[in-house]
This record gives sequence, C-alpha cells and structure tokens, in this order.
Amino acid sequence: MTGTPEFRRYLVNIDSISTHQLFTDCVVVGAGIAGLRAAIEAGVSRSVIIVCKGSLQDSNTWKAQGGIASVLDNNDTFESHIADTIETGCGICDREVVELVVRQGPQLVEQLLAWGADFDLVDGRVAMTLEGGHSHARVAHAHGDETGQVVADTLIKKVRENPNIKVVEGFYTIDLLANKDNECIGIIGHDRRLGQQIIWATNTILATGGAGQLYRETTNPEGATADGLAMAYRADAVLRDLEFMQFHPTTLYVAGASRALITETVRGEGAVLLDSRGHRFMQQYHEAAELAPRDIVSRAILEQMLKTNSTHVYLDLRHFDKAYFAKRFPLINELCESFGIDVSRDLVPVRPSAHYMIAGVKTDTSARTSIKNLYACGEVASTGLHGANRLGSNSLLEGLVFGKTAGQAVCRHKKASIAQFKHTLIKFQVPHSDRSRLDTADVRNSLRALMWRNVGITRTAQPLIETQEIVRFWQRYVMDKIFDEPAGWECQNMLTIALLMASSAQLRQESRGVHFRSDFPHPDDKNFKKHIEIKIEK
Ligand code: FUM
Repeated sequence: MTGTPEFRRYLVNIDSISTHQLFTDCVVVGAGIAGLRAAIEAGVSRSVIIVCKGSLQDSNTWKAQGGIASVLDNNDTFESHIADTIETGCGICDREVVELVVRQGPQLVEQLLAWGADFDLVDGRVAMTLEGGHSHARVAHAHGDETGQVVADTLIKKVRENPNIKVVEGFYTIDLLANKDNECIGIIGHDRRLGQQIIWATNTILATGGAGQLYRETTNPEGATADGLAMAYRADAVLRDLEFMQFHPTTLYVAGASRALITETVRGEGAVLLDSRGHRFMQQYHEAAELAPRDIVSRAILEQMLKTNSTHVYLDLRHFDKAYFAKRFPLINELCESFGIDVSRDLVPVRPSAHYMIAGVKTDTSARTSIKNLYACGEVASTGLHGANRLGSNSLLEGLVFGKTAGQAVCRHKKASIAQFKHTLIKFQVPHSDRSRLDTADVRNSLRALMWRNVGITRTAQPLIETQEIVRFWQRYVMDKIFDEPAGWECQNMLTIALLMASSAQLRQESRGVHFRSDFPHPDDKNFKKHIEIKIEK
C-alpha cells in the first residue's frame, strides 16, 4: 500500500536536548478500559505513566452502555460464546484469540466485582442480558446503562491507589519515538500546561481507542480521531483491516444535536424498530429481526429510510414499564427526557452511526505489535477477535483481556536502566513548505461528511476512488504544515487514516461483515477470506 503523498516520520520538529523530559519503565497512551487495565497490571512491578488527551472520563469506555459479554450464567457455555463471536466475524476471526478472550472473561469480570464494580445483580449473581448475535443472555451491566462509567471508575480508583502509576491528563501524544533500529523508546507529546514533552519509556502501550470522529454521524467522543492508528503507521507498524468500521444501528436522531447511543440491550429486552409509517420492518430482512447482527440491522434501517423517504426510523420502547425503564436505562431515559421524549408514550427517532473501529494496529496474543517494545490493546489494536464484524459487548471484554496481557508482558520485560535514554538524541526538522494554508476546522468537517457519504454503511467503487483523490488534495495542504495544538495534529491524523480506509475499502471487492460493497454484494472467499495489511511504503 502506498504511503501518503506528504508522508513524514514525525509531525513536529524535535530536538530532544532542549525538550522537557520524563523517564519511565512504561508509558500507556490512552485511559479507556484497555489503557487503565494495562497500567494496573504493569504497575504491579514497573513505574508507569498513563497519559490521555482529555480527562480520564473522556473515553469511549465511559460512554459504553450495554456491557461486558461473558459466560457467567450456568446455562451458558464458552463454546456458545466462541461460536457466536466466530459466526458474527464472517470467516476471518482468529480462533485462538477468540478462545483466549472468551475463556478469560468470567475471571476478569469477577475481578472487577472484587475491586468494587457495582454490576447489577439478580439473586446475588451478575444479571445477564441479551444483545444481537448472542445466542444466550450474557451481557453484564452496571447501574442499568451506566456500565462504562462504573467500570472506568473502578479502574481509575485502582490506578490512583498505586504509587507506581502517575496519571497525566491533558497530554496529547503526537508521535511514537524510535531509535535507529526502529525500536519504540517512548513518545513525544504536548502537555497543555508545560508544552512539548518527551516521555522516554522502555515499553510503550498504545490504547488510544477508535476513530468514529472520521464520520459526520458517530457515537464516539470528540477525542476519537484515529491518533493511535496514525502514529503507529508513521512509526512503521503494520495496520490491518482499515475497511472495517462498525456502524451502530440506533443512535438518537435529533437534528442539530450530537448523536447519542441507544443501547442494543433495549432491543434485547423487546424494543422493536418501526419505519416512519409505523410499520415494523426487521422481519423482512433477517429471521432474528431486531436482534440480527448490527451490520444487517444498520443496512436494513438505511434501506427502509430510503424506501420511506425519511431521515430516520423509530425505536418503540412503549412496552416497558415507565418506572422499570427509568431504573434499567437511566442514561437513555434522561437523554430522551432532555429532548421532551417520553419513552412510555413517544417513539424515539434513531438512525445508524459510526461506532467501533474494528481495524487496528496488528498485535499477537501477547499484545505485541510489529515494532519492538510497542504494545497495543483495546480498540486501537487488531487482535483478530472480531474478524469482519464485532459481536456486541465483546469490546470491553477484549480491552480487559489484552490490557492485562500487555501489562503482564511489560512486567516480564527485563527492567532496563533509564540511563540508556540519557544518551539518546532525536533531532528532526520538518521541511519548509510554501503552500497556502487551509482552514483545518473546515477540512475536518468536510472530511467527516465525505466519509459518511462515500465510505459509510454502503460503499461502491467510484465514490471510494473520488474520496481518495479529495483526501490526497487536502493532504497536500495540511500534511506539509507544522501545527502547535491538538486540532491541527488531529486533522493530520484523520486525513492519514481516512485515505487508508478508503483505499482498503476499494481493495476489498466483496461484501463481508461490516464492509458492504453494493457493486460486490456477496462474500468472495476465494480472494478475500483474509485480512488486508497496511504498512508504510518508503
Ligand atoms: O448497544 C450497545 O450497548 C453497544 C455495545 C457495544 O458496542 O459493544
């Protein structure tokens, strides 16, 4: 795969001698479930700095509603969870990884309980609910739909208690640093109080989350701008499956307001979808109706919107008892009320939006990337668990498992002396460019609209080709600049990954999982039952 036209190794000028520096055994970039879990594990015997660009509460984990999929019910089995994950992944899950993740689930959820996570219980046991694609009720939740907050709070408390772990909020990681052998030796970033900083680290764990902000419609927080993917790409790591972006079928649609997730578990508990004419339509598309896998529900909603010439469909939640709903789904209830929607009386307008980046930095079962001393876990990693489509609520589980795995790998790594970094010099000068400036806020908005239109739920060749041309044009005027604040670097990262997503989507001339090509509407096992790997071409 060809590199971006304006490729350069680092986004900013670097002179390590004159830059403020910190030293640690392990730096963790990102503070969602995977980053926090990794820090806790690495912090058992190593010094750890965990950095995040906003506050600890700004992660995708924090927004998770549905829960954590795990075999905790006596009538459920590992085999069933494994089979559902593989079936949803459409032929390209890595079975070894699926087994490893599913089998570790119960003990890691029990551990969270022991650390104080207040999961909802029934008769003293963790309450389980159903989501699409699962053949058993196996999704654990906390405070109803506040699962993400409860889990993140539990892990944050654990992190704060450990004197080996230092938390730095408001730290934007710009790039991964490498020595002359291309081994990762830490990061360069921008601390909002202190400016540019280098953190030298024997081990670096990337846990930066996803890329939903590449799309106009997304459930993701502002910070999900593909930073980790882009910096790993610049550092020469192997990325994988950039064409696989998962769209969530039901986000609240109120024109002018930002999109918010309406958890799939409402459908697991009986909610149905109606089109703008009030007809239930999902049975026409799949035998499991509203509980079909997400890609099928998302495409069905789009098709029904087209058929009825409407901007949205509706979720009918009126079967729920009003008091039960407010207790079981407090976040959604409050959200709907804030827009004057009474779910016991009114239909809830919804439409699909970008939700989860299945693509990622390729890792092995020890969370190692292709770069020495660089690990990845959580949404930024491609472990092979999800294949071409992610089973709902498997992502928090994956974050727990591979966060722990990455932390353990760091502890196994020989404790190196930080003295090694005292003699490491990095000097990098961005070449001067006379090209005119574009308004990056404008480019960002236009890119998000373009990706939604052309690299969205349904794709086809010509718009994918045009997208690459347009993105390359913007890159010429954005990638050659030096920015001094996060909005500029985010724009550069978004353009980098958008181009790779569009070109991977063009390359995969078939439909599989979340990637649907209307010009190749069927899977082509002969040519594409495999991953598409991407590495910078120098
Ligand atoms: O619908 C949901 O609650 C989403 C869960 C997930 O993305 O895993």
